Amino acid sequence: MLRIKRGVAHELCQFVAMHVPTIIARKREGEELSSKEISKIIQAYAADELPDYQMAALAMAIYFRGMNSREIADLTRAMMDSGERFEHRDGHPPVVDKHSTGGIGDKVSLILAPLVACAGCWVPMVSGRGLGITGGTLDKLESIPRFQVRIPLDQASAQLEKIGVVMMGQTEKFCPADRKLYSLRDVTGTVPSIALITASIMSKKLAESLDRLVLDVKYGSGAFMKNLEQATALAASMSEVGKAMGVEIHTSLNAMDEPLGRAVGNALEVAESIDCLNGGGPEDLRKIVLDLSEMITTTPRVQLEKWLDDGTAREKFDQIVIAQNGNPDDLNRLLEIHRAPIIRDVIAGHGGTVQRADAGMIGQASLQLGCGRAKASDEVDFAVGFDQLVKCGESIHAGQAVCRIHARSAVDFEMAEALIERAVVIG
Ligand code: URA
Repeated sequence: MLRIKRGVAHELCQFVAMHVPTIIARKREGEELSSKEISKIIQAYAADELPDYQMAALAMAIYFRGMNSREIADLTRAMMDSGERFEHRDGHPPVVDKHSTGGIGDKVSLILAPLVACAGCWVPMVSGRGLGITGGTLDKLESIPRFQVRIPLDQASAQLEKIGVVMMGQTEKFCPADRKLYSLRDVTGTVPSIALITASIMSKKLAESLDRLVLDVKYGSGAFMKNLEQATALAASMSEVGKAMGVEIHTSLNAMDEPLGRAVGNALEVAESIDCLNGGGPEDLRKIVLDLSEMITTTPRVQLEKWLDDGTAREKFDQIVIAQNGNPDDLNRLLEIHRAPIIRDVIAGHGGTVQRADAGMIGQASLQLGCGRAKASDEVDFAVGFDQLVKCGESIHAGQAVCRIHARSAVDFEMAEALIERAVVIG
């Protein structure tokens, strides 16, 4: 039998037309893909010339086999180049952003984007939808009636010029490769891959033409990276790609063992963000917003706190809502607009201290309630989820509520209640 050595096979692949099944099989066997192969695959996928089933198979091969740093950089660049990029005018203010690798109840972007814009920075924040068990900023924003996240680039640039901040998603023209691959990964079990997460996040962030970026890298049961070691590797991978493209990168590693704040679910999280923008909200949420904002602005923390407390950041968020077709009056009645048919407490059977409120299980329960998707074509349910969640370290007594479930049906309530009873440990 004719055997061709690995390196030679790789060389030969440069000279034959791209044969996608061969490329998938080579990655399945742990081989390195060339820059040209990666770029052609991404171009074809963004142009709808490569079917989802082949891309899903390749994503699964990458998930199992990984990519080296050269392949990750190529994948990121190819995804960034699949669409347009922001081109900021000469003399623009510092252009900054933050991106989280995803967590449960992580609504930081909704508060940080307007807050940082108050500091005079431009924030062209491009976010994603729910991914796996984690919620997505775009789904949360769309719970605000008529809020528009699909914004053409010229309109986004004009909004930056006018109010200093825009919160938008990928479109057919802006990061189209990530737009497609992101929703494909969400429903094919291919999210927790360092290569795929790096390329997804950094392609969007680099297309924003940033000066400075802070990456909130989560680890724990409610994150894609289950431990600090994996999160450190992901942070290093994203930093390397960002720095090579001339962006000042800051990373912040944060545990995601319990949900952030006390609310999980699309409209419920917007409501909690509004509390924070009104100077209130849960302590852990306010703290991380301030920690990350400090890293990308030169503004002292006391000033950032003042803008949360005196309504300045809230006013900026209202400006975003108006600019993106929503009505700020809806923010105060969002939970009436999206009211689940069943809203009921889960009661603690005994008293003690909350030892654990497992983010992974609570995320799974939120997904099953309808906060996320099982198929790419699914609609998310804005009304469902949890609020008034207890936090680790708090004391509670028997008969006290552990959280409130917002469910579409009695069956959904019971499923979520059973998961919460396992997720929350009182000792
Ligand atoms: N956020 C993204 O934008 N992409 C990922 O893959 C994970 C989190």
